[in-house]
Amino acid sequence: MDDRLVTTGFRPQDDDQEYSLRPKSLVEYIGQRKIKDSLSVYMKAALARNEALDHILLYGPPGLGKTTLAGIVASEMGTNIRITSGPAIERPGDLASILTNLNRSDILFIDEIHRLSHSVEEVLYPAMEDYALDIMLGKGPSARSVRLDLPKFTLIGATTRAGMLSSPLRDRFGIAFRLEMYTPEELAEIITRSAGILKIRCDREGALEIARRSRGTPRIANRLIKRVRDYAEVQADGVVNLKVAREGLKLQEVDDLGLDRTDRNMLTVMITKFSGGPVGLETLAATTGEDAGTIEDVYEPYLMQLGFIMRTPRGRVCTALAYRHMGFTPPQTASEDSQMKLDL
Ligand code: ADE
Repeated sequence: MDDRLVTTGFRPQDDDQEYSLRPKSLVEYIGQRKIKDSLSVYMKAALARNEALDHILLYGPPGLGKTTLAGIVASEMGTNIRITSGPAIERPGDLASILTNLNRSDILFIDEIHRLSHSVEEVLYPAMEDYALDIMLGKGPSARSVRLDLPKFTLIGATTRAGMLSSPLRDRFGIAFRLEMYTPEELAEIITRSAGILKIRCDREGALEIARRSRGTPRIANRLIKRVRDYAEVQADGVVNLKVAREGLKLQEVDDLGLDRTDRNMLTVMITKFSGGPVGLETLAATTGEDAGTIEDVYEPYLMQLGFIMRTPRGRVCTALAYRHMGFTPPQTASEDSQMKLDL
């Protein structure tokens, strides 16, 4: 299990409180302005026509609020939501049973939809397009298929890898939104809201400090405010200000930019063992003991956003910024040139 404090992955211990911290309506949902504006128009239109909303694909790095957004759509549309995930739907029959149990306008949320098997996807196509389920009866030459009507439902698919979706599946979503990383100001607003729900006193500077180290991700921001609260209650007078936030985060080994021990280990390995790269993803995974998919989905997006690593056709490369952050002198190489371009 992933036990890192700054992981964007969902951890079971987050569940209770993460649930209560989740906004239940679009007005409460902070950030992602363009998505909120569009969604609100599409929802109003569907409600006015008394129709189910078109199928929606949400994609982007983990922890940015895809499940939260799906829950909001369900509550704003006044419908039920059934939550499942690609790997959980093992056989076509599993999906058939979920689909036949839906009611009109219900929302089916499939997380990690890129991990659906091919045979399950085949069942999903007519369900999405024609609200129908094709069932094969018998085997061999006498086999025939019967079509069952399904209620008009809305599929909300979520993925961290839009590129891994098959194009027939991608094409069947009428609406697709890419979730962006949050700005420190937006995260500070989320932290202030969460602090209120958790009954923690947190001033603006404390919230901004935690926000700056939350890797653009609300899930991490909410996790960090909870740990800083523990520190504030035990070591300070219970108020999260700049000093308390800094000390609390230091205790968690979360650095100034929100990097934790695993990120720093990855950068150190790239710099000391591979001269800054290029190094292939699989090699990096084997040397650091991390899973290649996790490196790609969880660590890299933020390190790339910081301009610390770049993806090149020959592998990952550390930039001069990463060298300096880790306390090394950058070599005069192509990565320095690219960094200079990035700095402009
Ligand atoms: N918690 C998680 N994501 C959030 C968001 N976008 N706005 C408010 N609270 C959140």
